[in-house]
Amino acid sequence: MVKYGYMDLIEALRLQVEWGADEALLDAPQDRRAAAPAASASAPVQAGPAAGRVHAPRHVARHATVLPAGPAQAAKVAEGCESLEALQAALAGFTGCALRDTATQLVFADGAADARLVVVGEAPGAEEDRAGRPFVGPAGQLLDKMLGSIGLDRATVRIINTVPWRPPGDRPPTEAEVAVCLPFLLRHIALVRPRALLLLGAVAARAVLPEPERGLGIRRLRGAWRQVEIPGLAAPIPCLPSYHPAYLLRMPSAKAEAWRDLLQLREFLELLSTQG
Ligand code: URA
Repeated sequence: MVKYGYMDLIEALRLQVEWGADEALLDAPQDRRAAAPAASASAPVQAGPAAGRVHAPRHVARHATVLPAGPAQAAKVAEGCESLEALQAALAGFTGCALRDTATQLVFADGAADARLVVVGEAPGAEEDRAGRPFVGPAGQLLDKMLGSIGLDRATVRIINTVPWRPPGDRPPTEAEVAVCLPFLLRHIALVRPRALLLLGAVAARAVLPEPERGLGIRRLRGAWRQVEIPGLAAPIPCLPSYHPAYLLRMPSAKAEAWRDLLQLREFLELLSTQG
């Protein structure tokens, strides 16, 4: 038998966290390498709560009873929502994205329901997952400063993410996860009816911008306005891609470009104000 020391176990745990396995899904550990007990020919197969001592955790039962749902089902659900409250309730009940199984809670949005500007981020992180509000961690604090620098704050803009649940280990959401949540994101924008979108980072830009921009990196995309048609909105909406604040925290040299983007945004919003 291999004996593990205390430090080996800590290292093994640390490695798991780095790989994204940072949420406990079962009450007790499972040794998946242990041989499965041989099925007894005479033992009847039992089902239901009385079947055995090991109880399936709640999220597994949910998977077992819910069929996988794709973007088409998400679109049907989202399209039927006539208010932000209905959209939030629909998302809370939506089981088509597996991220909800590892997240603590839905991180729906922050800010004004009728904001002129919608800010689209990537995905909630650990702190947002705990708080149930987007952008409350270090990137959020920088976002607050960025908004403040052009006379905005989180009470007057609307802040949402491409996916409303935290990906395990704070990894970026996959394309499939973004695709299944996209109808909710687009419906959210249509219900707020903003005059402009600020797309923070490559994941948000890729989610919202159509081809061929979708394939470009954020360095190519940032700082240039694009008009995007959003289902449910009569006119295309101006979108400005820029750097994600988490990137700016890692790469302060990019702040000068981000500042230029913010100035453009301020100029555009001021122009809108003069037009009423
Ligand atoms: N980063 C995001 O993109 N969204 C959040 O809500 C927090 C951090």
